Amino acid sequence: MASTIKLDPEYVVAPVNRRTFGSFAEHLGRSIYSGLYEPDHPSADRQGFRRDVLDLVRELGVTIVRYPGGNFVSGYRWEDGVGPADQRPRRLDLAWHSTEPNSFGVDEFMAWAKAAGVEPMMAVNLGTRGIQEALDLLEYCNVPSGTRLSDQRRTNGAEEPYRVKMWCLGNEMDGPWQIGGMTAHEYGRLASRTAKAMRMIDPTLELVACGSSHSSMPTFGLWEREVLTQTYDDVEFVSTHAYYFEEDGDLASFLASGVNMDYFIDSVIATADHVGAALKQSKKIGISFDEWNVWYQQRAESRLPSGDDWPVAPVLLEDKYNVADAVVVGSLLISLLRHSDRVRSACLAQLVNVIAPIMTQPGGPAWKQTTFHPFALTARYAKGDVLNLAVRCATVATKKFGDVPTIDAVATRDAETGDLAIFLVNRQVDGGQEVVVDLSSIAERKIVESVVLANPDLMWAASAADSTSVAPQPLTADIQDDGLHFTLPPVSWAMVRVAA
Ligand code: AHR
Repeated sequence: MASTIKLDPEYVVAPVNRRTFGSFAEHLGRSIYSGLYEPDHPSADRQGFRRDVLDLVRELGVTIVRYPGGNFVSGYRWEDGVGPADQRPRRLDLAWHSTEPNSFGVDEFMAWAKAAGVEPMMAVNLGTRGIQEALDLLEYCNVPSGTRLSDQRRTNGAEEPYRVKMWCLGNEMDGPWQIGGMTAHEYGRLASRTAKAMRMIDPTLELVACGSSHSSMPTFGLWEREVLTQTYDDVEFVSTHAYYFEEDGDLASFLASGVNMDYFIDSVIATADHVGAALKQSKKIGISFDEWNVWYQQRAESRLPSGDDWPVAPVLLEDKYNVADAVVVGSLLISLLRHSDRVRSACLAQLVNVIAPIMTQPGGPAWKQTTFHPFALTARYAKGDVLNLAVRCATVATKKFGDVPTIDAVATRDAETGDLAIFLVNRQVDGGQEVVVDLSSIAERKIVESVVLANPDLMWAASAADSTSVAPQPLTADIQDDGLHFTLPPVSWAMVRVAA
């Protein structure tokens, strides 16, 4: 039986937030060094940025990039990474058991962000540091001139302030692995005091309090309640982080990862609104889903150096993504878009080489992983308002989440042009799914483009030698009296664009 989807322009969730299509560049492995920055690379510009990577970042459609971490930020001294390159110290990076050469720092990141056309989003170190260092970094970045640190920035070559709007107050401070990790009470107090002080420099900042590192943390829920009770007046966002992977060959549960993301987001909204109600506040806290992706944390790729080995930019977290991983990434974007009323920013973690859609070889090529495609197409064509869809379909049994719908979908509609984009996944492993989208509430319409990402070999992954043989392909679709018809292959992500 065909799955049916009812689409109605009246079912508006919220406008598409451009910041939903953010990403993340941490000092970790080869994300920065030989990723964004490789002065000796044949494509490097005069600032040492790889142009081949910049081109792919623009094609990916990333809108905002979080920097410099991640776990790295909790031991970072930002002053090490500014000023004359030959005077910058090398330091131990305890988070990733590496050596940080500091050749790339705040000024390089801001110049890179400008070249890439993305908004910079900064994190401050609340692990080994505190209010004063956060204020210093803010002064360096955002004060126009006439103070020691703003003038230092100008001396270092940046006449204009960077005007960074969005700031994370630390990173994953609930995690026992985090340098300087804290209890919710300790962190909530520090985040509140840091936020209040930062707002004395600039009241218009958009600040993010750390939420839970994932929804299965033992403190999840209680952490958010305590932290938001302390910071409700001080922040606009609470963060969420989630990484998914196929565990013990359980593909069905893996394909249903979006169900967990929906649950995570809904639970954080409920907790934030509970705190708001208790505090008699009408303000609604937004979610900054500032780390999300597929990440095979148990694989050798994620094993840290150890002992006396403190390498510079080691190969770390270089997951190779297959077709099923790309379908899951597409489905997680569907979940994020569906919650656009509260998820106001999100960062695919990460951008280059480290659990990333873009890979590079030092001195060699840059290429797209499978996960690049659903992200790039969603970022390019999700425009206007997000529409909630009424989906009727069969269910598939999963070990982790019980019975879940085989089809997940969301749509966007540009009210000015009337253009629609529908994004879908088929989670069924062993069968195609015929889909009929009821478009009766849309006057005249024609299919502009329909593409699908699928492959009989679910394990296919891109490499430097072949990154193109599994890319989105045209999907046969047509409009009949009862709506838009197409068939989704098993384990697939698809996009159908309709012009009105
Ligand atoms: O993205 C990799 C790591 O995952 C980040 O450094 C940390 O915040 C999270 O645990």
